Amino acid sequence: MLIDTYDRVATDLRVSLTDRCNLRCTYCMPEEGLQWLAKPDLLNDDEIVRLVRIAVTRLGITDVRFTGGEPLLRPGLVSIVQRCAALEPRPRMSLTTNGIGLKRTAAALKDAGLDRVNVSLDTLRPDVFKTLTRRDRHHDVLAGLEAAHEAGLTPVKVNSVLMPGLNDDEAPDLLAWAVEHNYELRFIEQMPLDAQHGWKREGMITAGDILRSLRTRFDLAPEGDTDRGSAPAERWTVDGGPHRVGVIASVTRPFCRACDRTRLTADGQVRTCLFAREETDLRAALRSEAPDEEIARLWKLAMWGKKAGSGLDDPSFLQPDRPMSAIGG
Ligand code: GTP
Ligand code: 5AD
Ligand code: SF4
Repeated sequence: MLIDTYDRVATDLRVSLTDRCNLRCTYCMPEEGLQWLAKPDLLNDDEIVRLVRIAVTRLGITDVRFTGGEPLLRPGLVSIVQRCAALEPRPRMSLTTNGIGLKRTAAALKDAGLDRVNVSLDTLRPDVFKTLTRRDRHHDVLAGLEAAHEAGLTPVKVNSVLMPGLNDDEAPDLLAWAVEHNYELRFIEQMPLDAQHGWKREGMITAGDILRSLRTRFDLAPEGDTDRGSAPAERWTVDGGPHRVGVIASVTRPFCRACDRTRLTADGQVRTCLFAREETDLRAALRSEAPDEEIARLWKLAMWGKKAGSGLDDPSFLQPDRPMSAIGG
């Protein structure tokens, strides 16, 4: 079991498969991209599957999320999913993607054993998409979403980040569109995890702003008495249901007390938190022929050092050295 000193148990593993991305979202990375990890530094497919196997067979992980960078850029993705689906016990598996290329791979991913996907889409306007992501690929994302839905990678969730002056007027339109297409929409508060270190608390659109904007057009009721549990999104039913909308308010309403996550970067480092400053090098252990027990021991030890929370509200808060695209979104 991966337990920490605050009695939280990590059952959800987020695996970053690459730090590269084919978009350049302004809240994530600069136009020119970043200094990408070199291929030999990335875990290879065998190493990833071995770590997932150790996590599910020895450490109590039940849910595996593949992420990036953009995980669809990883050539071995379908095979990694297939091999993880063959593990005993079989983990639930999902993918967080920008949707580009999903049209081509959705069916193969479903066949390989992927359960569902979350797709990022911040705007319904192609011109705003181009400004926000610096790439003209709006159409590909919409096509990817449709393909995921058709392939049964459901519920398909859509993640939207609202940026002041760009798409902050779009919350109600996004929700109407999501309801129409049967996607579960979640708005994410912008976090200080961008490569440019440009985040400012004063500038961000908060959960409160988002809810106010949505309520100009929809009737929202907090979702029943179901516990939010470890899910980062707080949810509301829309116009009496059954549709729901979520807000992931990592900044203004953090959910760290219920956090059930452990993370693996594309270069094989365990991180206990998106905002952690420490990493534990499992790649070195893998490559020095450490047995499974030793790797499991190192992972447990890493989680024992997990901090109470993100530290975002501490006056001494320091943004982690690695940006979100290199940690795993
Ligand atoms: P599901 O609802 O089960 O699909 O999980 P999820 O919401 O964690 O999935 P997703 O990968 O789509 O993450 C959505 C967003 O939640 C991320 O982009 C982050 O902004 C935020 N998030 C994910 N994991 C964490 C975390 O561990 N801590 C914090 N603070 N935010 C996170
Ligand atoms: N703050 C909040 N969300 C972010 N994402 C990327 N960078 C940030 C950030 N700094 C979102 C993406 C995607 C998800 C994986 O994380 O838009 O939806
Ligand atoms: Fe978990 Fe850290 Fe995210 Fe809080 S900020 S929910 S502790 S990963």
